[in-house]
Amino acid sequence: MELPFAEPYKIKMVEPIRRTTREERQQWIKDAGFNLFNLRSEQVYIDLLTDSGTGAMSDRQWSEIMLGDESYAGSASYYKLKSAVKEIFGFDHFLPTHQGRGAENVLFSVLVKPGDLVPGNSHFDTTKGHIEFRQATAIDCTIDEAFDCTANHPFKGNVDLEKLDKILKINPKERIPFIIVTLTCNSSGGQPVSLENLKGVSALARKYGIPLIYDSARFAENAYFIKSREKGQANKTIREIVAEMFSYADGMTMSSKKDGIVNIGGLIGMRSVELYQQASVYNIMFEGFVTYGGQAGRDMAALARGLYEATEFDYLESRVKQVAYLGQKLTDYGIQVQQPYGGHAIFIDANKFLPHIPKEEFRAQTLAVELYIEGGVRGVEIGAIMADRDPVTRENRFPALELVRLAIPRRVYTFNHMDYIAASLANVFHRREEIIKGFAIEYEAPILRHFTVKLKRAE
Ligand code: F0G
Repeated sequence: MELPFAEPYKIKMVEPIRRTTREERQQWIKDAGFNLFNLRSEQVYIDLLTDSGTGAMSDRQWSEIMLGDESYAGSASYYKLKSAVKEIFGFDHFLPTHQGRGAENVLFSVLVKPGDLVPGNSHFDTTKGHIEFRQATAIDCTIDEAFDCTANHPFKGNVDLEKLDKILKINPKERIPFIIVTLTCNSSGGQPVSLENLKGVSALARKYGIPLIYDSARFAENAYFIKSREKGQANKTIREIVAEMFSYADGMTMSSKKDGIVNIGGLIGMRSVELYQQASVYNIMFEGFVTYGGQAGRDMAALARGLYEATEFDYLESRVKQVAYLGQKLTDYGIQVQQPYGGHAIFIDANKFLPHIPKEEFRAQTLAVELYIEGGVRGVEIGAIMADRDPVTRENRFPALELVRLAIPRRVYTFNHMDYIAASLANVFHRREEIIKGFAIEYEAPILRHFTVKLKRAE
């Protein structure tokens, strides 16, 4: 028979985690203002809050930690990372940053001014936050299929080229500093963008003379989907696909806490030396000198190694198939999740799960809290709380999708953990009719409110 895939690594070190009681969890989540970000990690059994910075580094990466060069300027670790960025993405110029939003802050400080428009495919919340903070507007040009959880489109992260063309046609070029494409598209469900679509976006960008930037947090998972789903790509290596993807871009930001498989770090890659010079000024102000940008030398060295490991096919296959295994289990239990399964996470459709809870009472948040109480599993709301208020009208924004994201850390949990998560959700699903109240907001910050929001049970 054909041999199945298996993880291309074995486990050398373990970290104990502890099961807790339902009564404990009920108290803890109440004390946390029903905000899962406010829980202590010891109060969580399986932590699917994020796949960001939560991955397990390899023994090779840990040995790079010991080799880290902590020189303030020109460290050997910086040059290791610089050469990995050149080899994998093809960018001659790069700046390390402390994480992805640091990269956004530095690059957007150069490029975005009040009144600008930044089209893209469902910008991530920090990306949108950094655009709106500068009194500019993020315009979502994702294809319509992305907003239908059940539509089985292989590349739901794709940009709708007609929508994009219209924006570029009716607005003066000076108002559009760049187009940003997020790989994979986190906000629409960890969904990939096809190579053909990237080519199409790049052609439009060139036609109108507008730079194309990639938000590259999960670029390797995106490349895996291109290899496994796109016509004519099956025989290429992941690195060949990545090289072609990035050949269409003028620059990139990256949170390396995802596909860099490190616990902290980010970077900006650029073709233009002028842009590099301008961004360097802000990097020095906000992040640190241009050869460390908020990272320790050891972090940069581990990241360089992580970029190579994340672009190996066997790793990506076991990663993406573990996520799909969880998705299939939930589907088999009758739970509606985003189709096809995303690269880093499974997204549960809370509109289908709790249709009887009014959307003003935050369905997805209600489901995330119930899942925690049921099994000590921590997911995250990707719905109306995260969508924030409209910056102009200050009204709540209710996105088309109310999702609970179960993000799977890289190389951390086993298939038994996936079974446990699925069983916890199935239990909530069976008692969903008994869940009759959502939440009301007690406190919220003016921007990126989901991190610190405090909630109370709705009346
Ligand atoms: N872009 C995308 C697509 C992201 O998913 C994230 C972070 C960022 C940018 C910002 O990077 O956290 O390093 O500053 N996403 C995390 C998540 C927080 O849970 O999805 P950061």
